[in-house]
This record gives sequence, C-alpha cells and structure tokens, in this order.
Amino acid sequence: MSNVLYRNFTLDMPLADRAEGSWIWDQNGKKYLDMSGGAFVNALGHGRKDLIQRIADRMKKLSYVNGWHFTSSPMEEYAQKILSYAPKGFSHVGLLSSGSEAVEAAIKIVRQSFCEEGKTKKHKVIARSPGYHGNVGMAFAASARKNYKKYFAPYISDVAFVSAPLEGQIGEKINFAEELENKIIELGPETVSTFIIETIMGSSGACSVPPQNYFASVVAVCKKYDIKIIADEVACGAGRTGEYFACQHFNFVPDVIVMGKGVNAGLIPTSVLLVSEEIISKIKKGSGGFMHHQTYMHSPMMAACALEVLLEIEKENLISKVEEDGIFLGELLKKELLTLPHVGRVSGKGFFWGVTVVKDKSKKSFFPAEEKIVMKLFKKSKERGLVLWPVTGEEESLQSDAFVLAPPYTMSRAEMQEGVQKLKETLSF
Ligand SMILES: Cc1ncc(COP(=O)(O)O)c(C=O)c1O
Repeated sequence: MSNVLYRNFTLDMPLADRAEGSWIWDQNGKKYLDMSGGAFVNALGHGRKDLIQRIADRMKKLSYVNGWHFTSSPMEEYAQKILSYAPKGFSHVGLLSSGSEAVEAAIKIVRQSFCEEGKTKKHKVIARSPGYHGNVGMAFAASARKNYKKYFAPYISDVAFVSAPLEGQIGEKINFAEELENKIIELGPETVSTFIIETIMGSSGACSVPPQNYFASVVAVCKKYDIKIIADEVACGAGRTGEYFACQHFNFVPDVIVMGKGVNAGLIPTSVLLVSEEIISKIKKGSGGFMHHQTYMHSPMMAACALEVLLEIEKENLISKVEEDGIFLGELLKKELLTLPHVGRVSGKGFFWGVTVVKDKSKKSFFPAEEKIVMKLFKKSKERGLVLWPVTGEEESLQSDAFVLAPPYTMSRAEMQEGVQKLKETLSF
C-alpha cells in the first residue's frame, strides 16, 4: 500500500531507481528506454553529473532572492542569452516554475498591456481545438480537453475555440484564417485580446505539423483586429523540433512565447515567458510593472538551471543534432510503422513525433474510448522496457489515440533503432 497520490491508481508503478543517458532502471534492475523524455522534458539525457554540478555551484553562491529586492547574474545572463536565440522584437524574459504558470502569465500580460493603453474591453481569449496549455486557471480553460474538465466546469472561465490544423484529417478542408476571423467578429473584435496556439501540437494533436502558410494567414487576421498571439512552446520549444523555437520553422513571430519542459531538462522546475518590446513598452509607459508575482519568479536557482541547460545545448551542438537525427528518426518511424494495420499517421519534426492508433486504417475508423486501447498498448510497451507518452481517447476521433515520442536530444541512432523496434512490436496486434 502506497501513500502516494499517483496519477492513476490502476496502473502498476515500478520504482525508478537510477537513470543514465537514455535509460532508466527500476528497483529490480529492469531497464527502460526513455523514448518520451518523461513528459517531453528530459532534453539532455539522464544523470548529467557535470551539468548538475555547475547548477549546484551557482546555487551554492546564490539560490534565492526575491524579485522585489534583487536581480541576479544568472537571471540577467539568461535573459540576454535566450533573447539572442529569439525572433526579432522580443525584449523581456520572465521565469516561472511550470508551463501552466507561464501560459497564465502570458494571458495576463497581454490583457494588462491592452488595459494600459485604454483598451479595457479587450479580454477574450481564443484557443484551438484540439489543444493543451496546462492544468490551472486560464491555461486550463484554454485547453480543449473535455475529459480533463469533466468535474471542474463550475471553475472554468469562458474561452472560445477554433479548429487547429491536423495533418491527414480535416486540415486541407478548413480555411483556418476565415474560421478565426468569423469567431473574432462573432465575439466582437474590440473584446478579443489573445489567440493562443501551440506552434507544433504535442499530445493533443499527436505532433501534427501545421501547413507552412498557416501562420502567415492567422497572423494577418490577428493584426487586422489588434489581437496578440501567444505561442505555447512548452512542449515543442527549446530545440526539440530542430530549431530553438518551433516558430522559427515557419518565420512566424508571435507576441509572446512560453516554454517549459526542455528548458529545464528535468532538473529544476522552470518555465519561461518571452515578451515583445511592443507589449512591454505599453506597461512601462503605463503603470510601470507587470501585475503578476509569484514567490519563485526569477529565482536565481531556476535561472541557473535554464542558463546551464542552454549553454550545454550550445556546447554540444544539440539543435543541429536534433535536426539531422530527427530526419533519421522520422524516416525510420514511417518505414517501420506505416505498414502496420493499426497505425494511422506518423508525424512530427526533430525529436518530437506522434503515432496515431486506429482501428482500421482503410476505413479510417478508431477504437471506441471505452476500449482504452492506448493504455493497453502502453502497458505492453512498458513490459518491453519502452517508455512512451500515451494519449488516450480524449474525444472519439482519428487523432485521439496516439503515442508521442520525445527522446533526449542526446539519444544515439542505435538507441532510436532499438526503441522503434520495441514500438513496432507494441503496435503489432
Ligand atoms: C503545450 C503545453 N503547454 C502547457 C503545458 C503545461 O505545462 P506544465 O505541466 O509544466 O504546467 C503542457 C504540458 O504538458 C504542454 O504540453
């Protein structure tokens, strides 16, 4: 009997004992290949003792001061460093502890900047379905996850939804820009502040990559009605797709970018908020400060982690590795899996791939949710020593049963081959 509030009480929970590189060992010595980096977090591989030492050295010098009293060298250095990677127009960086918090802060900073210039009616948020932005407050409200919301409807604020582009399903038939514009008009353009999107969807869309012209068309609509775009790169950012920011694949420049997961490589919970100069200048000219504080915002400990992780990515040239090996991984997945009768689609970029599970590929039919097919396959993959990210039948559709792969950027090609073979065995039924 465990006293731990497990994520699910029906699952067998092996006790992870140690981990190194791409591998995790449980207490019985069984070895698992970490093909999902946990929840797309472990960007640098497990057991990076030198990196952990460098973060610890910085923490020994200074671990916590509050943003009301002090700034710190790691924070100042990190802000400069990350901005050197960012698209033009970004000028300020904030640190929080989780992706959900960073999304929340992003929605608030956009709203505040409109208020600062007197546009106080602008508050409505448009998000996309499917989509996921987190599990608290507005981030939760902006997530199109019916099953997550089942018990909590009384707490959820109003958010409007439009369709997200999904590969191989409805993508080609919908005019996304037109749908967005119609939604804005329906809500009243003077009331809409924000359009929030995942640049490349993670678990919600099984790593569906949007068409190249998608962003230019929705940016044009948002500019027309003075609506700010938040790019949620919590899952797809920090180099995971073979560019530091996923928006750079599309020459897409949002107004705010949020990141988490890979930014901290699983070492210290840290998320990032990057804000455009345009938004910050309105706050500077107005009230003079962002009305959002949390105890650990800007803590030197989180900044030390984010900085050292980014320096490590740079030192080991990992973004280029992800770009090159990501092509290898994508081709391997397609070659090995697309011939299987229950694999619907393989899509993604870099080290971020989704594999959808369908009932009958030729008929484009899916398993009924009550069959819980992905959880059965998830169990099978763990028995084979493979860690994947399961996406369970959220809504009945061709996208809803899937696995996401997000291996550490350091994973070797031989390990990828081993992982894909185990995945093929798992999906052969
Ligand atoms: C795209 C996206 N945004 C936000 C979040 C929320 O991040 P966190 O779980 O760190 O709060 C997640 C988490 O999976 C995510 O995938």
